[in-house]
Amino acid sequence: MRETSRPGGAGEAGATWAVLVAAGAGERLEIDRPKAFASLGGRPLLAESLERLDRSPWIDAIVVAAPVGWEEPAILLAEELAATKVVSCVTGGATRADSVREALEDVPDDALVLLVHDAARPLVDDAVIERVLAPLAEGFVGVVPVLPIPDTVKRVDNGVVVETVSRDDLVGAQTPQAFLASALRRAFGGDLSGATDCSSLVERVGGRVAAVEGEPTLLKVTTAADLALVEVLLASS
Ligand code: CTP
Ligand code: MG
Repeated sequence: MRETSRPGGAGEAGATWAVLVAAGAGERLEIDRPKAFASLGGRPLLAESLERLDRSPWIDAIVVAAPVGWEEPAILLAEELAATKVVSCVTGGATRADSVREALEDVPDDALVLLVHDAARPLVDDAVIERVLAPLAEGFVGVVPVLPIPDTVKRVDNGVVVETVSRDDLVGAQTPQAFLASALRRAFGGDLSGATDCSSLVERVGGRVAAVEGEPTLLKVTTAADLALVEVLLASS
């Protein structure tokens, strides 16, 4: 699978590369395998986002980060799906950020734009990919899809409410997140501790990140209930 490319795509300077992180254990899902291989509509959860990214006209090449010991099944899955943009599958690291860092090693230096996506958000579509790519042409080095937070937000210390935080300027961040490759590489050159998304690392080094509208259907599968909900959304789409 390594080193495969399509004409005008992965081999071309300035291509858009996607990093699909699927290397998490999925502890909160409480099944006998990593979350990326949980069954969603009769196939591995990873298949949904992998196929959607592969079919997207915005994406030229894909690197997948798989859980240790699951690299081969990930490659076989890409082959089964005829996901020809998958260039390589790396072994993920201890944290999400470590997995992204591993995948970046397999992205060539001439890649211009990087899109990083969680396999745990299966229902990625071209509309949101297009939205996150657009501001990169307008002076932003990173872009995140966001949604308003519907609940009242409180700060709690040991079971005691300390403060109610105004949610006026608060949002929840999703993936796919898009970056100029140079900015993401710079951000990943430093300390990765505490990072739960890629944007936070780019922000840390002073990168200007745009927020665009996310999608409710891009919800992240964390628990069995989320998986059931995504299954319903998938069946009705
Ligand atoms: N991820 C990864 N490598 C890690 C941890 C997470 O590639 N070491 C990926 C997951 O596969 C997922 C995304 O990052 O696609 C978001 O992580 P999360 O939803 O927390 O997944 P898990 O870490 O697998 O789940 P849990 O925290 O319940 O163990
Ligand atoms: Mg996790």
